Amino acid sequence: MKILSIESSCDETAAAVVEDGRRVLSSIVASQVEEHKIYGGVVPEIASRRHVEAISGVVKSALSDANCTLDDIEAIAVTYAPGLIGALLVGVNYAKGLSMASGLPLVPVHHLRSHIAANYITHPELKPPFLCLVVSGGHSHIVEVKDYTSFKVIGYTHDDAAGEAMDKAARAMGLPYPGGLNLDRVAKDGNPNAYKMPHPRVDGAPYDFSFSGLKTAVLNTINQAKQKGEEISVPDLGASYIKAVVNCLTQNTEKAACDLGYNKIVLAGGVSANSVLRRDMEALCKKHGWELYAPELKYCGDNGAMVGAQGYYEYVSGNTADLSLNAVASMIIE
Ligand code: KG4
Ligand code: ZN
Repeated sequence: MKILSIESSCDETAAAVVEDGRRVLSSIVASQVEEHKIYGGVVPEIASRRHVEAISGVVKSALSDANCTLDDIEAIAVTYAPGLIGALLVGVNYAKGLSMASGLPLVPVHHLRSHIAANYITHPELKPPFLCLVVSGGHSHIVEVKDYTSFKVIGYTHDDAAGEAMDKAARAMGLPYPGGLNLDRVAKDGNPNAYKMPHPRVDGAPYDFSFSGLKTAVLNTINQAKQKGEEISVPDLGASYIKAVVNCLTQNTEKAACDLGYNKIVLAGGVSANSVLRRDMEALCKKHGWELYAPELKYCGDNGAMVGAQGYYEYVSGNTADLSLNAVASMIIE
């Protein structure tokens, strides 16, 4: 079964054709990164406008790259929540128009569910249940994935998301947007033990995260160095910071997996591209004899293929929408 999928929740206009939730026939991603770079982050109004300009061409390219017309497609999947509302609306309305014109069923897909489903593309053998660390620009969750459309959030962040924390620290260190990626690159040459960082814990909630204290620690380190007229080593501070964030992510995931008896661990979301997180999670899983799964790097960030992967399982479980479907800025994955 071929699904045409559309994603426009943030600053990537993307579309794909995916077969049976696992085989990517085409995947087109039009990134707006260069445009938002000069502002140091995503400007929602600009994002919406660029989606409007790009979406038609992106969808057409996805169909032609897959050697398909709408006649070969059986459903249209679209990201409808959560995300920037004006950005989401472009994809949702485009998908509704296509659905109305073609008579094809419309499948609403939750953005974080699709990040998890990126793993089904990379690992054809992967099936739920498993424990998933979902770390994106807007969310940090530890999720029990009980089935393809059944989720339980057991850990979440009390302030910044992991990606947001990476972006803010990168910005404080003078690195350009996209912060997380540039921080990862610069920190590769750094000493992760050069600067002392706190290890924030949330009292009484061992699977929850809090990253705002780490961000403050970075700002304090930079300001104190300035006052003393000392130079900061960005690679060293970056490496120390990433180590601290990743320690929180791995330790909470380890505790959750031990407590709940999971031996299959899955990474998802933009931050799952982080080299230190991937390395440390691999070591952790090796230590326990657990299996680790992470998406291919090209499917870690926002893309249409992951929407098509999750869209298939949503469709199979009867989750379709009519033309009253609306975009929603925030919505829990459950
Ligand atoms: O999942 P995603 O593409 O978009 C959202 O759904 O939010 O995640 C974007 C986040 C950004 O905060 C970005 O800085 C972060 O993922 N990110 C990284 C890396 N690549 C992207 N963070 C750390 N290391 C990376 N290599
Ligand atoms: Zn995302």
